[in-house]
Amino acid sequence: MKRTIGTCYYPEHWPREIWEEDARRMAEAGLTWVRIGEFAWSRLEPEPGRYEFGWLDDAIAVLGAAGLRVVLGTPTATPPRWILDRHPDMLAVDAEGRPRKFGSRRHYCFSHEGYKAECARIVTRLAERYGRNPHVAAWQTDNEYGCHDTTISYSDAARKAFRLWLRTRYPGPGNDGDIRALNEAWGNVFWSMEYADFDDIDTPNLTVTEPNPSHALDYRRFSSDQVVAFNRLQTEIIRAHSDAPIAHNYMGRVTDFDHYKVGADLDIASWDSYPLGFLEDRVPASVERQRQYARQGDPDFQAFHHDLYRAVGRGRWWVMEQQPGPVNWAPHNPAPLPGMVRLWSWEAFAHGAEAVCYFRWRQAPMAQEQMHAGLLRPDSAEAQGLVEARQVAAELADATKVGASPTSVALMFDYEAEWAWAIQPHGKGLSYFELVFDTYRALRRAGHSVDIIPPDHEHLESYKLILAPGLMHMSGPLKKALAESGAVVLIGPRSGARDSAMRTPVPLPPAIPGLDVTVSHVESLRPDSPVPLAPGGTIRSYREFIETVAEVLERTADNEPAVVAEGKLVYVAGWFDADAMFRLVRTVSDRAGLATLDLPDDVRCRDTGTERFWFNYSTREHEVQGKTLPPISVTRETLI
Ligand code: GAL
Repeated sequence: MKRTIGTCYYPEHWPREIWEEDARRMAEAGLTWVRIGEFAWSRLEPEPGRYEFGWLDDAIAVLGAAGLRVVLGTPTATPPRWILDRHPDMLAVDAEGRPRKFGSRRHYCFSHEGYKAECARIVTRLAERYGRNPHVAAWQTDNEYGCHDTTISYSDAARKAFRLWLRTRYPGPGNDGDIRALNEAWGNVFWSMEYADFDDIDTPNLTVTEPNPSHALDYRRFSSDQVVAFNRLQTEIIRAHSDAPIAHNYMGRVTDFDHYKVGADLDIASWDSYPLGFLEDRVPASVERQRQYARQGDPDFQAFHHDLYRAVGRGRWWVMEQQPGPVNWAPHNPAPLPGMVRLWSWEAFAHGAEAVCYFRWRQAPMAQEQMHAGLLRPDSAEAQGLVEARQVAAELADATKVGASPTSVALMFDYEAEWAWAIQPHGKGLSYFELVFDTYRALRRAGHSVDIIPPDHEHLESYKLILAPGLMHMSGPLKKALAESGAVVLIGPRSGARDSAMRTPVPLPPAIPGLDVTVSHVESLRPDSPVPLAPGGTIRSYREFIETVAEVLERTADNEPAVVAEGKLVYVAGWFDADAMFRLVRTVSDRAGLATLDLPDDVRCRDTGTERFWFNYSTREHEVQGKTLPPISVTRETLI
């Protein structure tokens, strides 16, 4: 597959006279793709029912004539002001009960039927008009579902839709739900929370103390399903008029909806990679580490999302927005070191990206993102990002074979587990995402190339090692599939700790066939009171006490079993710190017959079918495996 680069362009922001010149410069720099249209609703339909497509026809023609391929975005993340006049109750409502106002973007509730009808209308008009346009080579639905904390809404529309959703989840005779089944599943006898009717059930916000976790988890599932339905409304319309592939651009560490389910309705997953933007408040990293990588980004965070979204796209994925210079929205916004834009781009390609598009073509001289770099400065002179993009384009011309290849190691990531941990963390700051990410870091330190997989992944037998930490609910079929996969499987802590309704199962967890382990009780730990492990390192924040006759591989310093194994199943009874996690990864890798490295923090590698890519995130040279890796570099090693 030919790997390509592109950019995000807003013709509606620039005088008509410069479009040709912009298009010419894009093509000259080696760009293939140009994404347009995703925020342009007020220019496409300035008043209800009055469409102005002439300028977009023109823009697509100009870009196409320059040889560029257009990704056309649907504009539904930015409903114009008049839509709000028509549907004053379409705004999402936050957990405090406050509507989220007009004046930026994403100001809609996924459950509002009137707004969904407006979306269906504009998407239909776009799909009818551009579905067969030869220059429109791909579509993007909406923009960054869930960004700015917009998945979960507590509006009247959401309340109404939730009640309907519950009736389907707890079905009864006829079309109605069975309220007794819901009361039983949620355990509503506790605190006299029993309901007589589905219409008595409210959204789980503004309760006096925490809401019932079963109620909260169903609300998370419902909110996620609303995103899936909203996206599907658009894909069905587009597919009726176009054969071009459809993508959505996901965000980094947005986990409020199930991306696998949204991805099932799309042809390509894409994501928006802002390595420096994410560093301070999304990456689980110490302050020292953030300082160390302030101008490079965390060496594992982008790769984690590349691997996750490869799974969401069932193999097909892009970076739709790549940070090209300083952004405007993080707590601090340093400039990347020279060479980083190129390094990030190559890291994406090494993980299998089909395309990397830089956000945005030219820095905006107005509105919210004036301080966000583009490939061009506001005066149209070249910025550093374009210098590096051009270099990547030239290098890609000689690198047609780059692509992801099968790996032996899989790491399971489950959105429902993320919600369950968030609802019932048991200790301040405990997060499933962070547990999985810590595991991923240890795998990368060991030099593994990793596939991230969903819990219903169908081909577990293709892996030698599967890590599935922290899956709070494990269905019977999942337990069986893991136990019978033939791989070495690492599970724990909290595996199978709740049933699908968020109740504690009996027999007690993890209750996996073939593994004689029972978690008798658990504790969360203060950050200043970790539990030492006998071979070194600590259990850092969450600990389980287990009863077992399995072989004990590691104990705590106070002589409790911490890692146990039976056959190919391995259980870890706590959240290990970085060094202990790395030791554990080595232990399970050895059992799976997989060789490991011990890479420095700055250096990461990724294997494709024919090559090993080495990435040095540091400003100093590293010697690794007999190779000299220059500062801020990509080194390609041919594999035999
Ligand atoms: C993304 C978004 C873009 C732009 C960019 C700035 O989250 O999709 O529209 O706002 O951030 O970094």
